[in-house]
Amino acid sequence: MGKMMGQSVVLFDGKKRYLVLVEDKEVKRKGIGRWNPKVLEDKRFGDTIKIGSKEFLILKPSLKDMILGIERKAQIITPKDACHIVFYCSIKSGSTVVEAGSGSGALTIALAHFTFPEGRVISYDIRRDFLEVAKENVRMSGYKNVEFKEGDVREKIDEKGVDAVIFDFSDPWNAVQNAYHALKDFGYICCYCPTIEQIEKCVSSLSGFTDVITIEVLEREMVIREGSSRPGNIGIGHTAYMCFARKMPQIT
Ligand SMILES: C[S@@+](CC[C@H](N)C(=O)[O-])C[C@H]1O[C@@H](n2cnc3c(N)ncnc32)[C@H](O)[C@@H]1O
Repeated sequence: MGKMMGQSVVLFDGKKRYLVLVEDKEVKRKGIGRWNPKVLEDKRFGDTIKIGSKEFLILKPSLKDMILGIERKAQIITPKDACHIVFYCSIKSGSTVVEAGSGSGALTIALAHFTFPEGRVISYDIRRDFLEVAKENVRMSGYKNVEFKEGDVREKIDEKGVDAVIFDFSDPWNAVQNAYHALKDFGYICCYCPTIEQIEKCVSSLSGFTDVITIEVLEREMVIREGSSRPGNIGIGHTAYMCFARKMPQIT
């Protein structure tokens, strides 16, 4: 069996990047066509391969490639916001993080990356179809420190003493008290919401929390050409606002 078997790789055609899991399984992929990734098993990173009429450079996927290359069933949290979530929630190797909902699993992959190898991610979703997509995407990423759970976090969160809870669904304020009980003292909560009205409700619901801050992250790619470098025309528009807070210990 070739050394690439079981690994994720990026196929780059000079413009587009395709995230692919090397396994013996015929797949149909927009931009590539019908093919079997097994043909990559004896290749190395930096090699090229011709599939159909196209030539691709084989690259080792970055975290950004893994997040942006997955199949999207739900709107994902992109690297622009994911890196602020990781930073503001102080997530590191060894952290235990609860998130909801799993959606497409994009944030899950980022959380698995930063908590690896000693930490873990528990990812809840109320919908089984989303869980299946997220599971497959995380499998592609190669991270094994993720547990998926089908459930409504507004009803319950099983875990206790976790380092951070991240909510990305429409009414997180209805689950804030469950997050409070799941968190360890001074643990972090993040609510990710597209509208400011949702954020207002989240902030109002943060009873028992302190150090509340709400941010929006703006990112602009630059086009660099000698003598005429400037911001590009295509940028990421509004994604969401994020409010963060820390759990105050319960006074007994
Ligand atoms: C926008 S998607 C999350 C995207 C995800 N953060 C990503 O980066 O791929 C929202 C998900 O939350 C799930 N969801 C909605 N309400 C929920 C709840 N109360 N508990 C758990 N999951 C919930 C939905 O089924 C959906 O899959």
